[in-house]
Amino acid sequence: MQNFTFWNPTKLIFGKGQLEQLKKEVPLYGKKVLLVYGGGSIKRSGLYDQVIALLGEIGAEVFELSGVEPNPRISTARKGVEICKQEGIEFLLAVGGGSVIDCTKLIAAGAKYDGDSWDLVVKKAFAHEALPFGTVLTLAATGSEMNAGSVITNWETNEKYGWGSPVTFPKFSILDPVNTFTVPRNQTIYGIVDMMSHVLEHYFHLEENTDFQDRMCESLLTTVMETAPKLLADLENYQHRATILYSGTMALNGILNMGYRGDWATHNLEHAVSAVYDIPHGGGLAILFPHWMEHNLSIKPERFQQLAVRVFGVDPKGKSAEETGRVGISKLREFWNSIEAPARLADYDIDDSKLELMADRAMANGEFGNFKKLNREDCLAIYRASL
Ligand code: NZQ
Ligand code: ZN
Repeated sequence: MQNFTFWNPTKLIFGKGQLEQLKKEVPLYGKKVLLVYGGGSIKRSGLYDQVIALLGEIGAEVFELSGVEPNPRISTARKGVEICKQEGIEFLLAVGGGSVIDCTKLIAAGAKYDGDSWDLVVKKAFAHEALPFGTVLTLAATGSEMNAGSVITNWETNEKYGWGSPVTFPKFSILDPVNTFTVPRNQTIYGIVDMMSHVLEHYFHLEENTDFQDRMCESLLTTVMETAPKLLADLENYQHRATILYSGTMALNGILNMGYRGDWATHNLEHAVSAVYDIPHGGGLAILFPHWMEHNLSIKPERFQQLAVRVFGVDPKGKSAEETGRVGISKLREFWNSIEAPARLADYDIDDSKLELMADRAMANGEFGNFKKLNREDCLAIYRASL
């Protein structure tokens, strides 16, 4: 295990009726509030009205930025930055899924930066300061509600990159499972794949002596796999929504990955696909992850074997570590097929015509991945296998 410091300043407020906490939390940061949200789901669900009413009760002056896209765009974040600078916004409130939260993070940092916000995304500049912001999460998936990461797309240049800074943790995040009842079936599935993929990214590392961390990861994966089919059969079940919501946050808030560094190559490969084709992140991961695993099985077969035995119940008797690991990979694929996650790039009408461009985007910062450094040929091989 490597040395580590764990620091996560986000106050997590979880459960039914917790939206009321806005009245306590928001006044700590200011009166001029920019409410950031997406394409209208919060208006249809009634959450928008509830938030506006609560902000009204505390006398907040509310400005709005709506229309944040899934795979949020730099153009939208720039609009938000402009509002903050013009109106002297003191606090931002993101109400939505990972895209709304990620966009809000860039607006918060961009408001305190003199140049173009894209500089922060491409790491031409570092965010040393940000406006404070909180979130009301409506979709279990990314973990953005309790981490400092943000992923932004520049649609003009087909680039999508992750960035973050210690100043881009939310001050608080309110997670009421009821606010996820209206998440459609497909988005629920993408969220399940995304949180499982976060755990898998952690899991593939080269460090030794991570027994406790491994067991936590395995526990999260088995919990999500047990709950997912029950939730998909009953989308408004509070307990199942709660389990998935909590799991999504825990998968990427730093708790699981202390003392080692996970791989993260598959996320980079996926971001390159959605930069070119604008597909849902979780859908892309469901397609790519099993192929990344096949491609790298021989690097350390024991990791794959352990996953296969402990999470997928594979019997290792009479099999090599690699053979057991391979059965585990097919069990993961079977599970994702069983919940109707996409399995091939062709499911999104993606053919081989832009593989080179996707590989260029994935390789933007050179070779990547901590379990195995991937080069351009590796990227192309994984993309081809995923067609
Ligand atoms: O825009 P609205 O109308 O709100 O609709 C959204 C959107 O169409 C809808 N939705 C959200 N909550 C809903 C709902 N519909 C009905 N009822 C609700 N309660 O769902 C659609 C997808 O929303 P989005 O926010 O895009 O999904 P998600 O949370 O999966 O976020 C995906 C983005 O996060 C990035 C991804 O790359 C992608 O850009 N990621 C961010 C990470 C982070 N910050 O740590 C890590 C992840 O690995 C990921 O890369
Ligand atoms: Zn993800």
